[in-house]
Amino acid sequence: MILVLVGPPGAGKGTQAKLLCSRFGIPQISTGDMLREAKRAGTLEKRYLDIMDSGGLLPDEAVIGLIARRTVEPDCGNGFLLDGFPRTVPQATALDELLASQGGRRIDAVLQLDVPRPLLEERLIHRRTDKRSGQIYHLVYNPPPPGAELEHRADDRPEAVSKRLDAYDAMTAALLPFYEEKQLLHRVDGVGKPEEVTHRVLSAVGRSGSGGE
Ligand code: AP5
Repeated sequence: MILVLVGPPGAGKGTQAKLLCSRFGIPQISTGDMLREAKRAGTLEKRYLDIMDSGGLLPDEAVIGLIARRTVEPDCGNGFLLDGFPRTVPQATALDELLASQGGRRIDAVLQLDVPRPLLEERLIHRRTDKRSGQIYHLVYNPPPPGAELEHRADDRPEAVSKRLDAYDAMTAALLPFYEEKQLLHRVDGVGKPEEVTHRVLSAVGRSGSGGE
């Protein structure tokens, strides 16, 4: 099964991706996580680091290469869930070509998480991630346990959050119609408890004919 999760920063893509991947036994492929990993390892080019931390989008070719390499790894044989990729029409077109070149694979469903902007800002500014486990917390809704080694993302500062939300609005103007035309797009209400959102996502996957509830 090949699933794509789209939605604005803070919509809960990472949170839902972890739940869905464990349910379907497929790996999560998050371009954001891969880039942050490269940043920690000191292998991310400085110009990309600056773009990321300020809330901008990297050039398409930088992320397409990451996906091309990752999707041919052995654990992707039964499918995968893409979180945060594609974000632009050229990325979506490159993904279709890539999948076609991998023996005619196809996307099963594109799931768009909808959350109003004021709630997104509130979620992002209070997000913390455990450096060791990658677990995502929210200081108010899902507080971290004592002893967690917390990280506050550079792009979760209010000025970067605002830029990321604007970039998403500009991007979806073209990306969502691209998938709507292909009849792959499912809009899911992302407001509510994470498990309620998961239930809605699973229903949408089921409606796509790919399994789930
Ligand atoms: P990326 O890491 O993909 O960030 P993003 O899309 O901005 O998404 P986030 O990770 O911020 O949010 P999320 O939707 O995963 O929400 P989460 O589950 O954490 O990308 C980062 C950067 O990398 C980009 O800005 C860009 O520079 C670069 N990049 C990445 N991919 C790229 C690409 N394809 N092209 C170009 N550049 C690219 O949840 C957020 C918070 O809300 C958490 O605190 C969580 O606990 C809480 N929460 C989640 N669900 C709920 C709920 N139901 N109720 C209450 N709280 C909730």
